[in-house]
Amino acid sequence: MDVVIYHNPGCGTSRNTLALIRHAGIEPHVIDYQKCPPSKALLAQLIGRMGMAVRDVLRVKGTPYEALGLGDPKLTDDQLLDAMMAHPILINRPIVVSERGVALCRPSDMVLDLLPELPLADFVKDDGEICLRDSEAADRDAGMVAALQAEGLPTDDLTDPGRRFFVYRTLSGEIVGYAGHELYGPDAFLRSLVVLPAARGKGIGKAIIARLTRRAFDEGARTAWLMTTGAADFFEGIGFKRVERADAPKTILNTRQAQGLCPASAVVLKRAIRL
Ligand SMILES: CC(C)(COP(=O)(O)OP(=O)(O)OC[C@H]1O[C@@H](n2cnc3c(N)ncnc32)[C@H](O)[C@@H]1OP(=O)(O)O)[C@@H](O)C(=O)NCCC(=O)NCCS
Repeated sequence: MDVVIYHNPGCGTSRNTLALIRHAGIEPHVIDYQKCPPSKALLAQLIGRMGMAVRDVLRVKGTPYEALGLGDPKLTDDQLLDAMMAHPILINRPIVVSERGVALCRPSDMVLDLLPELPLADFVKDDGEICLRDSEAADRDAGMVAALQAEGLPTDDLTDPGRRFFVYRTLSGEIVGYAGHELYGPDAFLRSLVVLPAARGKGIGKAIIARLTRRAFDEGARTAWLMTTGAADFFEGIGFKRVERADAPKTILNTRQAQGLCPASAVVLKRAIRL
């Protein structure tokens, strides 16, 4: 399979993505896009094929984004593309192209969607994080229900409409956890996160949240919300901030979880979803 990666060797996510492609036995065409950027027309085409808005592919951190005032919502796609051509560091990375599609691979294991479905040996990223695959959980997946019940987490509303649940496996196929989301326009209510006891303390909860929020981003969500009674410290450790219950959107407050399944004392947390 021919694979192209628009790579930044100074970026950990880009390096991990490249390493994962090689782990699958594929030597990709590596383009250092800062030295050799795509043309404006090709960049626009790649962004279109990713199904993303131009603005979603703009990188903020470590770039002249603020200095150039690129947060101005009046700027057109054409103007944003011109800025990316003038300063290629503004193109978020890595963008990967294969015969299965085009994707901005953040987190890096999103690249698995573009590779052949091969069972692989386990893979550990350069920061020690274990690479995970996700797949949609079946209705009332027995393993997921058992894992949630073992933690006293709600299972009564799993088959209500508007929810998606995922099973997370290591590349060699071991199930390590479950999680789901309910989407309300720009707001994603994250729920049912459980890492199986034997897999805890290895960065898997953090990796699941990265993967889950990216899936929610691709469906239009830009803020992640959750409620927890026992894991607020874990979520604060990965960038969520506590908010007053009244600050949460009504759509979230009206969910069955918020209405009754979680005790009123549950902590509400939120985090912006950025790639
Ligand atoms: C909470 C839970 C998801 C954490 O999963 P995990 O895979 O063990 O967590 P990670 O290894 O990814 O931890 C990431 C970081 O959070 C820290 N952390 C993990 N659990 C924590 C906790 N309960 N309190 C505070 N910090 C915690 C880790 O030390 C780690 O910090 P580091 O990056 O500085 O080393 C898991 O313990 C679990 O499934 N608990 C039961 C179900 C539950 O409470 N789900 C949440 C419902 S909303």
